[in-house]
Amino acid sequence: MFSSTVSRTSQKLFTRQTRSMITAQAVIFSKHGEPKDVLKTHTYQIDDENIPENSIVLKTLGSPVNPSDINQVQGVYPSQPEKTTELGTDEPSAVGGNEGLFEIIGVGSKISNFKVGDWAIPANVCFGTWRTHAVTTEDQLTKLNNPSDSKALGKKSGLSVNQGATISVNPLTAYLMLTHYVKLAPGKDWFIQNGGNSAVGKYASQIGKLLGFNSISVVRDRDDLDSLINELKNELGATQVITEEQNSSKDFGPTIKGWVKETGGEVKLALNCVGGKNSTGVARKLSNNGLMLTYGGMSMQPVTIPTSLHIFKNITSAGFWVTALLKGNPELKKKTLDQIVSWYENEELLDAPSVETAFDATKDDLAQLYKNGIENSKKGKQLIVY
Ligand SMILES: NC(=O)c1ccc[n+]([C@@H]2O[C@H](COP(=O)([O-])OP(=O)(O)OC[C@H]3O[C@@H](n4cnc5c(N)ncnc54)[C@H](OP(=O)(O)O)[C@@H]3O)[C@@H](O)[C@H]2O)c1
Repeated sequence: MFSSTVSRTSQKLFTRQTRSMITAQAVIFSKHGEPKDVLKTHTYQIDDENIPENSIVLKTLGSPVNPSDINQVQGVYPSQPEKTTELGTDEPSAVGGNEGLFEIIGVGSKISNFKVGDWAIPANVCFGTWRTHAVTTEDQLTKLNNPSDSKALGKKSGLSVNQGATISVNPLTAYLMLTHYVKLAPGKDWFIQNGGNSAVGKYASQIGKLLGFNSISVVRDRDDLDSLINELKNELGATQVITEEQNSSKDFGPTIKGWVKETGGEVKLALNCVGGKNSTGVARKLSNNGLMLTYGGMSMQPVTIPTSLHIFKNITSAGFWVTALLKGNPELKKKTLDQIVSWYENEELLDAPSVETAFDATKDDLAQLYKNGIENSKKGKQLIVY
């Protein structure tokens, strides 16, 4: 986002002037800390009548609050946006948020790959998506079909704002973990995952089903367990759903072996976003030579794998980070995105619903809206829509 092209143009674009211009707002931080203490709203002007030839003006349609966005503001996440004064802030600042969906509302004379009305998402992380508008360059964006494009292509459905705004992280993570490392035989092989009701877990169940893979989802026990099991199995395609207690019980092991034997396959892959005892349990279900990919640490406990699993079953434990995998591989990103978009357009994939809050510029403080979203993150994925 803060490429040199934008830097050169920013003086012209972001100076405060009196004639009619776009009044933009961004949620910025100039130092790291708890989001409630460091996030502020910054207001600035964008001159959309004099767009530099290589610039694109965007209106935000929606941007979510992801766990990694919060960690980024806290300063405990490895990828960090550059802090600059490009938006006219007194101190060098960065705009929060990594994922989001934008509509193009203005293009410079040399822009050829985007036109007004197109939809786009950031090509890379650290774009700063918690804002009403942005000015950027072509190389910073990836085009997505907007509903009119999908209609013109004869697709069943166009993307919703929630689908577009949350496409870059969770669906790609689930798809890549299931396809990029281990070859699972459709109809036969299995994967096991904990956090089976997480957003990533729900995509993994659905994508597993679409690709013909059998799955076991581990979830925490709860009052409405039956309804969760019903949702995961009957709406989202998980083959089996078990509780953490069953995952750690020796007595339950033979039941799982029975399921796997029935399909004539193996449990070749485990997806771990919890850690601790739960990771031990899923690793124990792997067949010989299986792989456990750790992509999150929700319990804040270390990943624990018994020595015997390494020695006698040759289990491998590895990490997965979607940002690192896709950073140097735009072709893989495009191929994966195209697949997810196509499933959405064919109504084969359900998005994980978000709790949507609409920004009203006449009464809302934008930073407060994201602070509330962070506060409410445990109640479901929070999406601010514009
Ligand atoms: N590495 C990557 O590239 C990558 C990409 C995407 C996401 N992630 C990470 O993946 C994780 C899940 O993300 P998400 O957006 O899917 O999250 P989410 O929808 O908020 O789901 C969180 C999940 O974690 C479970 N959980 C929370 N605390 C737990 C604990 N102490 N013990 C056991 N389970 C616990 C929750 O279960 P309950 O419902 O029982 O609370 C829920 O299933 C996060 O850590 C995120 O940062 C990593």
